[in-house]
This record gives sequence, C-alpha cells and structure tokens, in this order.
Amino acid sequence: MTTAVVPGSFDPPTLGHVDVIQRASTAFQDVVVAVLLNPSKTPMFSVDERIAMLREIAAQLDNVEVEAFEGLMAEFAAARAPSVILKGLRVVSDFEYELQMAQMNRHLKGVETMFVPTSATHAYLSSSLVKEVAKFGGKLQGLVPPVVERALLSRHPQEHES
Ligand code: PNS
Repeated sequence: MTTAVVPGSFDPPTLGHVDVIQRASTAFQDVVVAVLLNPSKTPMFSVDERIAMLREIAAQLDNVEVEAFEGLMAEFAAARAPSVILKGLRVVSDFEYELQMAQMNRHLKGVETMFVPTSATHAYLSSSLVKEVAKFGGKLQGLVPPVVERALLSRHPQEHES
C-alpha cells in the first residue's frame, strides 16, 4: 500500500493544488499532504493556518491527511515507506527544477517521485501570483477554494471594499 506524499509550501493552497490532491486521492490508497515549515522564509500564512485550510479542502477525502514537515522531504517520505513523492507539473519550465529535486530525493533516500500534469485550466496558477492578485484587489474566484479566498480577503480587506 504505497502512500503518496504531496509536498509543498501551500502559501496559500490554490485550485491547482486541490486538483493534484484530489487526483492523488483517487490514484493512491493513502495521501499525506506535507506542508513545509521553513523558518528562514516569512510566509503569508502560518503553517497552522495552511494546515487548517488544507484540512478543510480535503475534508471530504477520507484517505487524505495533512501534516507539517521540516527538513528534507526525502526523510519525511522515507519515514512513510512504501511511499512516492507526487508533484504536479504545470508547464515545461517546472520540469527542470522538479527533475533535480526528484533525482536528489532518490539519491538521498531512494524515494521515487511521480509527476502528474496539472489540469490545463490551472496551468498558469501559482501561490505567488494569487497573493499578488489578492494584494491588488483582483478577482480570486476560479483561482483558490472558498476557504482560501476568505483568508486572503481578511488579509487585504481594504483592496476589496466596493
Ligand atoms: O510549493 P513549493 O514551494 O514548490 O514546494 C517545494 C518543496 C516544499 C516541495 C521543496 O522545497 C522541499 O521539498 N523542501 C524541503 C527541503 C528539501 O528536501 N529540498 C529538496 C532536496 S535538497
């Protein structure tokens, strides 16, 4: 029973992430969404906030758990063996970095990575673009799930007053 580990910063989760998590949940018996706790970066949302959003998003998916991780993804995934790291690929430019990480993770702990192409409708989506759209009051529907939209609006209320 192989566990799919879906790692990321998820700051915040987008509909692209949701798509990958839902498809992982269909293809694998167990899924662990692993939220990076990176003390050297200042995220918009704390790891607890990101975990709470992801748990709400995955509430209907019985085989999906959400956990924080620190340090190496390869160690986290190896501790859940048998496991694979599952990553979404949006565009060809994602592939170069993802390939390096996959090869490093295999070198470190023998952990395999599998890639899933994100749905074409989400190919342009990224957490950083979503934060920028929110900052300048742009429309968030179709980019993020409602729980994330509410969280972004609460961070930037003045931009969204009409
Ligand atoms: O959502 P992101 O920021 O693209 O996710 C990147 C993430 C968290 C998957 C990646 O940075 C990661 O695995 N970080 C943990 C440290 C690590 O194992 N780095 C890669 C091998 S050296």
